[in-house]
Amino acid sequence: MIYKKISDDDVAAIGLGTWEMGGREYADYSFDQHWINIIKSAVENGLTHIDTAEMYGNGHTEEIVGRAIKEFPRQQLFITSKVWLTHLHTEDVLFSFENSLRRLQTDYIDLYLIHHPNPDVPLEETLMAMNRLVEQKRVKAIGLSNFDISMIKEAEKISSVPISAVQIEYSLLTRNKGVYTHNQEKEIIPYCQEHQIAVIAWRPLGKTNYVKLSTNNVMKSIAEKYHATPAQIALSWLIAQKNIFAIPQTGSVKHLKENAKACDISLSLEDWNRLSEAFME
Ligand SMILES: NC(=O)c1ccc[n+]([C@@H]2O[C@H](COP(=O)([O-])OP(=O)(O)OC[C@H]3O[C@@H](n4cnc5c(N)ncnc54)[C@H](OP(=O)(O)O)[C@@H]3O)[C@@H](O)[C@H]2O)c1
Repeated sequence: MIYKKISDDDVAAIGLGTWEMGGREYADYSFDQHWINIIKSAVENGLTHIDTAEMYGNGHTEEIVGRAIKEFPRQQLFITSKVWLTHLHTEDVLFSFENSLRRLQTDYIDLYLIHHPNPDVPLEETLMAMNRLVEQKRVKAIGLSNFDISMIKEAEKISSVPISAVQIEYSLLTRNKGVYTHNQEKEIIPYCQEHQIAVIAWRPLGKTNYVKLSTNNVMKSIAEKYHATPAQIALSWLIAQKNIFAIPQTGSVKHLKENAKACDISLSLEDWNRLSEAFME
Protein backbone atom coordinates (compact mmCIF):
# COMPACT_ATOMS: atom_id res chain seq x y z
CA MET A 1 0.00 0.00 0.00
CA ILE A 2 1.07 3.57 -0.63
CA TYR A 3 0.38 6.12 2.11
CA LYS A 4 -0.03 9.85 1.67
CA LYS A 5 -0.73 12.65 4.11
CA ILE A 6 -4.18 13.93 5.00
CA SER A 7 -3.47 16.57 7.62
CA ASP A 8 -1.07 14.77 10.02
CA ASP A 9 -2.18 11.24 9.17
CA ASP A 10 -0.57 8.76 6.80
CA VAL A 11 -3.54 7.44 4.85
CA ALA A 12 -3.86 4.57 2.36
CA ALA A 13 -3.91 6.11 -1.13
CA ILE A 14 -6.51 3.55 -2.19
CA GLY A 15 -9.48 3.15 0.11
CA LEU A 16 -12.95 1.67 0.02
CA GLY A 17 -16.14 3.50 -0.98
CA THR A 18 -19.39 2.39 0.65
CA TRP A 19 -22.18 3.96 -1.43
CA GLU A 20 -24.93 1.32 -1.97
CA MET A 21 -23.66 -0.87 0.87
CA GLY A 22 -26.86 -1.19 2.87
CA GLY A 23 -29.12 0.83 0.60
CA ARG A 24 -29.10 4.01 -1.42
CA GLU A 25 -31.34 6.82 -0.06
CA TYR A 26 -33.13 4.25 2.15
CA ALA A 27 -31.82 1.44 4.34
CA ASP A 28 -31.67 -2.03 2.83
CA TYR A 29 -30.96 -4.70 5.46
CA SER A 30 -30.91 -7.66 3.02
CA PHE A 31 -27.17 -8.05 2.53
CA ASP A 32 -25.71 -6.75 5.80
CA GLN A 33 -23.48 -9.75 6.44
CA HIS A 34 -22.13 -9.64 2.89
CA TRP A 35 -21.15 -5.98 3.26
CA ILE A 36 -19.66 -6.51 6.72
CA ASN A 37 -17.50 -9.30 5.27
CA ILE A 38 -16.44 -7.08 2.36
CA ILE A 39 -15.38 -4.23 4.66
CA LYS A 40 -13.48 -6.59 6.98
CA SER A 41 -11.72 -8.19 4.03
CA ALA A 42 -10.88 -4.73 2.65
CA VAL A 43 -9.22 -3.72 5.92
CA GLU A 44 -7.34 -7.04 6.11
CA ASN A 45 -6.02 -6.36 2.61
CA GLY A 46 -4.76 -2.89 3.43
CA LEU A 47 -7.78 -0.79 2.42
CA THR A 48 -7.84 0.84 5.85
CA HIS A 49 -9.23 4.11 4.45
CA ILE A 50 -13.04 3.88 4.42
CA ASP A 51 -15.36 6.46 2.91
CA THR A 52 -18.95 6.70 4.09
CA ALA A 53 -21.68 9.29 4.76
CA GLU A 54 -24.74 9.80 6.96
CA MET A 55 -26.84 9.95 3.79
CA TYR A 56 -25.84 6.47 2.56
CA GLY A 57 -28.66 4.04 3.26
CA ASN A 58 -30.20 6.77 5.43
CA GLY A 59 -27.56 6.02 8.07
CA HIS A 60 -27.55 2.26 7.67
CA THR A 61 -24.25 2.23 5.74
CA GLU A 62 -22.53 3.82 8.74
CA GLU A 63 -24.08 1.11 10.94
CA ILE A 64 -22.61 -1.56 8.66
CA VAL A 65 -19.20 0.14 8.71
CA GLY A 66 -19.40 0.34 12.52
CA ARG A 67 -20.16 -3.38 12.84
CA ALA A 68 -17.36 -4.28 10.41
CA ILE A 69 -14.59 -2.20 11.97
CA LYS A 70 -15.18 -2.78 15.66
CA GLU A 71 -12.71 -5.66 15.94
CA PHE A 72 -9.84 -3.71 14.36
CA PRO A 73 -7.60 -1.32 16.32
CA ARG A 74 -9.22 2.06 15.71
CA GLN A 75 -5.94 3.90 15.11
CA GLN A 76 -5.22 1.53 12.19
CA LEU A 77 -8.25 2.94 10.34
CA PHE A 78 -8.97 6.21 8.60
CA ILE A 79 -12.73 6.81 8.54
CA THR A 80 -14.31 9.59 6.50
CA SER A 81 -17.95 10.53 6.93
CA LYS A 82 -20.02 13.38 5.55
CA VAL A 83 -22.78 15.61 6.82
CA TRP A 84 -25.71 15.87 4.39
CA LEU A 85 -26.70 19.16 2.77
CA THR A 86 -29.97 19.52 4.69
CA HIS A 87 -28.06 19.37 8.01
CA LEU A 88 -25.68 22.30 7.60
CA HIS A 89 -26.97 24.72 10.27
CA THR A 90 -24.63 24.67 13.30
CA GLU A 91 -26.90 22.68 15.62
CA ASP A 92 -27.84 20.26 12.84
CA VAL A 93 -24.18 19.50 12.07
CA LEU A 94 -23.54 18.73 15.74
CA PHE A 95 -26.63 16.50 15.90
CA SER A 96 -25.69 14.66 12.70
CA PHE A 97 -22.17 14.16 13.97
CA GLU A 98 -23.39 12.52 17.21
CA ASN A 99 -25.56 10.17 15.19
CA SER A 100 -22.70 9.27 12.85
CA LEU A 101 -20.42 8.49 15.82
CA ARG A 102 -23.07 6.29 17.40
CA ARG A 103 -23.71 4.35 14.19
CA LEU A 104 -19.98 3.97 13.51
CA GLN A 105 -19.41 2.82 17.13
CA THR A 106 -16.44 5.10 17.49
CA ASP A 107 -15.52 8.19 19.48
CA TYR A 108 -13.93 10.18 16.67
CA ILE A 109 -14.02 10.62 12.89
CA ASP A 110 -10.76 11.03 11.02
CA LEU A 111 -12.13 13.22 8.24
CA TYR A 112 -15.51 14.95 8.34
CA LEU A 113 -16.76 16.46 5.07
CA ILE A 114 -19.59 18.72 4.00
CA HIS A 115 -21.22 16.33 1.50
CA HIS A 116 -22.56 19.01 -0.86
CA PRO A 117 -22.69 22.78 -0.72
CA ASN A 118 -26.04 24.30 0.21
CA PRO A 119 -26.38 27.97 -0.83
CA ASP A 120 -29.31 28.41 1.59
CA VAL A 121 -27.08 27.93 4.64
CA PRO A 122 -24.21 30.33 5.35
CA LEU A 123 -20.94 28.43 5.17
CA GLU A 124 -19.87 30.22 8.38
CA GLU A 125 -22.52 28.29 10.31
CA THR A 126 -21.41 24.88 9.06
CA LEU A 127 -17.71 25.56 9.47
CA MET A 128 -18.24 26.94 12.97
CA ALA A 129 -19.65 23.56 14.00
CA MET A 130 -16.94 21.61 12.20
CA ASN A 131 -14.19 23.79 13.71
CA ARG A 132 -15.67 23.15 17.15
CA LEU A 133 -15.54 19.37 16.59
CA VAL A 134 -11.86 19.60 15.65
CA GLU A 135 -11.11 21.77 18.71
CA GLN A 136 -12.83 19.13 20.85
CA LYS A 137 -10.60 16.48 19.18
CA ARG A 138 -13.62 14.49 18.05
CA VAL A 139 -12.76 15.13 14.40
CA LYS A 140 -9.15 14.97 13.23
CA ALA A 141 -9.56 16.87 9.95
CA ILE A 142 -12.27 18.55 7.93
CA GLY A 143 -12.98 18.94 4.24
CA LEU A 144 -15.43 19.63 1.44
CA SER A 145 -17.14 17.44 -1.12
CA ASN A 146 -18.43 18.64 -4.49
CA PHE A 147 -17.28 22.24 -3.94
CA ASP A 148 -15.99 24.25 -6.90
CA ILE A 149 -12.76 26.24 -6.70
CA SER A 150 -14.30 29.55 -5.62
CA MET A 151 -16.19 27.85 -2.79
CA ILE A 152 -13.08 25.98 -1.67
CA LYS A 153 -11.24 29.30 -1.40
CA GLU A 154 -14.18 30.88 0.42
CA ALA A 155 -14.25 28.01 2.95
CA GLU A 156 -10.51 28.38 3.52
CA LYS A 157 -10.99 32.06 4.35
CA ILE A 158 -13.80 31.34 6.82
CA SER A 159 -12.48 28.27 8.61
CA SER A 160 -10.07 28.67 11.50
CA VAL A 161 -9.09 25.02 11.06
CA PRO A 162 -7.35 24.09 7.77
CA ILE A 163 -9.39 22.53 4.98
CA SER A 164 -7.41 19.27 4.72
CA ALA A 165 -9.22 17.48 1.90
CA VAL A 166 -11.65 17.90 -0.94
CA GLN A 167 -13.63 15.07 -2.47
CA ILE A 168 -14.49 15.38 -6.17
CA GLU A 169 -15.62 13.20 -9.03
CA TYR A 170 -12.39 12.37 -10.85
CA SER A 171 -11.15 9.51 -12.99
CA LEU A 172 -9.75 8.88 -16.46
CA LEU A 173 -13.36 9.15 -17.65
CA THR A 174 -14.24 12.36 -15.76
CA ARG A 175 -11.55 15.01 -15.91
CA ASN A 176 -13.15 18.45 -16.07
CA LYS A 177 -16.88 17.82 -16.45
CA GLY A 178 -18.23 16.10 -13.38
CA VAL A 179 -21.86 15.92 -12.35
CA TYR A 180 -21.32 18.49 -9.57
CA THR A 181 -17.88 20.03 -10.25
CA HIS A 182 -16.14 21.31 -13.35
CA ASN A 183 -12.48 22.03 -14.08
CA GLN A 184 -11.22 19.42 -11.65
CA GLU A 185 -8.00 18.91 -13.61
CA LYS A 186 -7.72 22.50 -14.83
CA GLU A 187 -8.32 24.29 -11.51
CA ILE A 188 -9.22 22.27 -8.43
CA ILE A 189 -6.44 19.69 -8.45
CA PRO A 190 -3.53 22.10 -9.20
CA TYR A 191 -4.81 24.46 -6.49
CA CYS A 192 -5.07 21.63 -3.93
CA GLN A 193 -1.64 20.26 -4.84
CA GLU A 194 -0.12 23.68 -4.33
CA HIS A 195 -1.89 24.20 -0.99
CA GLN A 196 -1.36 20.76 0.62
CA ILE A 197 -5.02 19.80 0.35
CA ALA A 198 -5.69 16.10 -0.25
CA VAL A 199 -7.88 15.29 -3.27
CA ILE A 200 -10.08 12.24 -2.84
CA ALA A 201 -11.37 10.96 -6.18
CA TRP A 202 -14.89 9.58 -6.03
CA ARG A 203 -16.21 7.24 -8.74
CA PRO A 204 -12.58 6.41 -9.66
CA LEU A 205 -13.65 3.52 -11.89
CA GLY A 206 -16.55 5.32 -13.54
CA LYS A 207 -19.04 2.88 -11.95
CA THR A 208 -21.44 1.76 -14.74
CA ASN A 209 -19.15 3.38 -17.33
CA TYR A 210 -16.31 1.05 -16.35
CA VAL A 211 -16.77 -0.76 -19.66
CA LYS A 212 -15.53 2.40 -21.42
CA LEU A 213 -12.29 2.05 -19.46
CA SER A 214 -11.87 -1.66 -19.89
CA THR A 215 -12.55 -1.79 -23.64
CA ASN A 216 -10.32 1.13 -24.66
CA ASN A 217 -7.43 -0.11 -26.85
CA VAL A 218 -4.72 2.01 -25.20
CA MET A 219 -5.91 0.84 -21.80
CA LYS A 220 -5.91 -2.79 -22.94
CA SER A 221 -2.35 -2.62 -24.25
CA ILE A 222 -1.05 -0.86 -21.11
CA ALA A 223 -2.86 -3.31 -18.82
CA GLU A 224 -1.28 -6.19 -20.71
CA LYS A 225 2.19 -4.61 -20.50
CA TYR A 226 1.94 -4.27 -16.66
CA HIS A 227 0.18 -7.67 -16.21
CA ALA A 228 -2.63 -5.73 -14.58
CA THR A 229 -6.36 -5.25 -15.02
CA PRO A 230 -7.85 -2.02 -16.45
CA ALA A 231 -9.21 -1.21 -12.98
CA GLN A 232 -5.72 -1.43 -11.51
CA ILE A 233 -4.28 0.76 -14.26
CA ALA A 234 -7.06 3.35 -13.78
CA LEU A 235 -6.36 3.48 -10.01
CA SER A 236 -2.62 3.59 -10.57
CA TRP A 237 -3.07 6.52 -12.98
CA LEU A 238 -4.94 8.39 -10.24
CA ILE A 239 -2.64 7.77 -7.31
CA ALA A 240 0.49 8.49 -9.37
CA GLN A 241 -0.59 12.12 -8.98
CA LYS A 242 0.51 14.19 -5.99
CA ASN A 243 -2.00 14.30 -3.11
CA ILE A 244 -4.59 12.16 -4.94
CA PHE A 245 -6.46 9.30 -3.25
CA ALA A 246 -9.02 6.90 -4.78
CA ILE A 247 -11.95 5.24 -3.02
CA PRO A 248 -13.37 2.51 -5.31
CA GLN A 249 -16.44 0.65 -4.09
CA THR A 250 -16.75 -3.09 -4.64
CA GLY A 251 -18.88 -6.00 -3.51
CA SER A 252 -16.24 -8.53 -4.53
CA VAL A 253 -13.29 -9.84 -2.50
CA LYS A 254 -11.44 -10.56 -5.76
CA HIS A 255 -11.85 -6.95 -6.84
CA LEU A 256 -10.89 -5.41 -3.50
CA LYS A 257 -7.66 -7.45 -3.46
CA GLU A 258 -7.02 -6.35 -7.02
CA ASN A 259 -7.65 -2.70 -6.09
CA ALA A 260 -5.27 -2.85 -3.12
CA LYS A 261 -2.53 -4.31 -5.34
CA ALA A 262 -2.85 -1.40 -7.80
CA CYS A 263 -0.41 0.35 -5.46
CA ASP A 264 2.35 -2.01 -6.63
CA ILE A 265 2.11 -0.69 -10.20
CA SER A 266 4.42 2.12 -11.17
CA LEU A 267 3.37 3.56 -14.53
CA SER A 268 6.10 5.11 -16.66
CA LEU A 269 5.58 8.78 -17.42
CA GLU A 270 5.11 7.87 -21.07
CA ASP A 271 2.33 5.38 -20.27
CA TRP A 272 0.72 7.80 -17.81
CA ASN A 273 0.61 10.42 -20.58
CA ARG A 274 -0.69 7.94 -23.16
CA LEU A 275 -3.61 7.15 -20.82
CA SER A 276 -4.29 10.84 -20.19
CA GLU A 277 -4.47 11.48 -23.92
CA ALA A 278 -6.49 8.37 -24.74
CA PHE A 279 -9.28 9.44 -22.42
CA MET A 280 -9.24 13.20 -23.06
CA GLU A 281 -12.83 14.50 -22.69
N1 LIG B 1 -18.89 12.75 -2.37
C1 LIG B 1 -19.81 12.31 -3.20
O1 LIG B 1 -20.76 13.03 -3.56
C2 LIG B 1 -19.71 10.94 -3.75
C3 LIG B 1 -20.46 10.57 -4.87
C4 LIG B 1 -20.34 9.26 -5.36
C5 LIG B 1 -19.48 8.38 -4.73
N2 LIG B 1 -18.78 8.74 -3.62
C6 LIG B 1 -17.88 7.78 -2.92
O2 LIG B 1 -16.99 7.22 -3.87
C7 LIG B 1 -17.09 5.80 -3.83
C8 LIG B 1 -16.76 5.21 -5.18
O3 LIG B 1 -17.64 5.67 -6.20
P1 LIG B 1 -18.78 4.74 -6.85
O4 LIG B 1 -19.12 3.66 -5.89
O5 LIG B 1 -19.86 5.60 -7.27
O6 LIG B 1 -18.09 4.20 -8.17
P2 LIG B 1 -16.75 3.35 -8.52
O7 LIG B 1 -15.99 3.04 -7.30
O8 LIG B 1 -16.08 4.07 -9.63
O9 LIG B 1 -17.38 2.05 -9.14
C9 LIG B 1 -17.92 1.01 -8.37
C10 LIG B 1 -18.13 -0.17 -9.29
O10 LIG B 1 -16.86 -0.60 -9.77
C11 LIG B 1 -16.80 -2.00 -9.74
N3 LIG B 1 -15.42 -2.40 -9.40
C12 LIG B 1 -14.72 -2.15 -8.27
N4 LIG B 1 -13.49 -2.67 -8.34
C13 LIG B 1 -13.40 -3.28 -9.55
C14 LIG B 1 -12.39 -4.01 -10.22
N5 LIG B 1 -11.20 -4.22 -9.64
N6 LIG B 1 -12.66 -4.50 -11.47
C15 LIG B 1 -13.85 -4.27 -12.07
N7 LIG B 1 -14.87 -3.59 -11.49
C16 LIG B 1 -14.63 -3.10 -10.24
C17 LIG B 1 -17.74 -2.45 -8.66
O11 LIG B 1 -18.35 -3.67 -9.05
P3 LIG B 1 -18.02 -5.05 -8.23
O12 LIG B 1 -18.92 -5.02 -7.06
O13 LIG B 1 -18.38 -6.10 -9.24
O14 LIG B 1 -16.57 -5.03 -7.90
C18 LIG B 1 -18.77 -1.32 -8.57
O15 LIG B 1 -19.94 -1.65 -9.28
C19 LIG B 1 -18.54 5.58 -3.37
O16 LIG B 1 -18.78 4.26 -2.95
C20 LIG B 1 -18.65 6.62 -2.29
O17 LIG B 1 -18.04 6.18 -1.09
C21 LIG B 1 -18.86 10.02 -3.13
